[in-house]
Amino acid sequence: MSTIKTIGLITGGGDAPGLNAVIRAVVKTAIGVYNLRVVGVEDGFEGLLGETKTHELTADDVRGLLPRGGTILGTRNRGRFVLHDAGGDVKPEESFRVALDNLKRLEIDGLIVLGGEGSLGIALEFDARGVPVVGVPKTIDNDLACTELTFGFMTALDIATEALDRLHTTAASHDRVMVLEVMGRHTGWIALHSGIAGGADVILIPEIPFTYETVVEKIQERERCHREFSIMVVAEGAKPVGGQEIYQDPGDREHAPRLGGIGEMVAREIEARTGKESRCVVLGHLQRGGTPNAFDRMLATSYGSCAVHALMRGERGRMVALRAADIITVPISKACASIKTVNHDSQLIRTARDVGISFGAPDEAQHHGKEVC
Ligand code: F6P
Repeated sequence: MSTIKTIGLITGGGDAPGLNAVIRAVVKTAIGVYNLRVVGVEDGFEGLLGETKTHELTADDVRGLLPRGGTILGTRNRGRFVLHDAGGDVKPEESFRVALDNLKRLEIDGLIVLGGEGSLGIALEFDARGVPVVGVPKTIDNDLACTELTFGFMTALDIATEALDRLHTTAASHDRVMVLEVMGRHTGWIALHSGIAGGADVILIPEIPFTYETVVEKIQERERCHREFSIMVVAEGAKPVGGQEIYQDPGDREHAPRLGGIGEMVAREIEARTGKESRCVVLGHLQRGGTPNAFDRMLATSYGSCAVHALMRGERGRMVALRAADIITVPISKACASIKTVNHDSQLIRTARDVGISFGAPDEAQHHGKEVC
């Protein structure tokens, strides 16, 4: 028999389509199955500091939430629980002390935290200080380990794929190279999946550093086949061999660095080297905003409901995860130990190359199938 009577619910880090669907499932399961109270914490973990920003969530509060984008609780990146110092990230003890006192005062005796690696890392600190925590894997980047999918990724993938479909018609009309820069932080999941689904000719991802010579070779190979336009997907973390990731903002003590700019750089370089008009489109936060697709609504609902069951079963410091169409739990510490990156030799990479997609690798010619004229 669990002693938990009140669950605190927190959404942390960048938003992702499906956050509200998880909130709805947590509230419905907690109240409907276990007769618990659910307290929503506003603005990520920040809502646990100072006077606190929280409110009780009832069945009425979650009515109509399933298709709604964003998070009704608000969210924050980092905040006062992770500060970046020269030596690395520091988690200030004072913030945890204040938050723990407030949790006690609010009679919250368990937490469900929706977040990526950063927020779940903070969640684990609460667990280590005696507050039972279950995590829910959220990020459009799909870069959390120990789960096949994070919610939000599939919706971002739909949006990037639709953008590629639209870029195809304008690229073909003008005989241009169109470059789509997508999110993903240090991983290429969105670029790889949308590039295959959207019929890209070149996909550049952080896991496979590229050379401009190889990319140009692919574009010229297409021209030899009378394909006068080309479509490229570039992950924001992609980099040339021997080069570095490009940042729009290096970040500071309280703000995470912001990637961006590689798409424009690639478009300029391709135009200079091929003489073909090239344009870059940065998809940006369109990948995160708006309604979740059907799959993410279903996944988010399963995750939310299973998170409540896990907490009430007495599971601690664990994250719900998708494995082989089933929801299991895994240690948060394992999920946050390192990010999940694209494997160079995965079936999806091989399939992409089989259908003629180039990753711009120096040895690309040995891998990818020829452009079929
Ligand atoms: O982690 C999600 C994500 O959207 C990344 O893909 C991107 O690099 C980052 O967040 C952008 O963060 P912000 O919303 O702070 O610009």
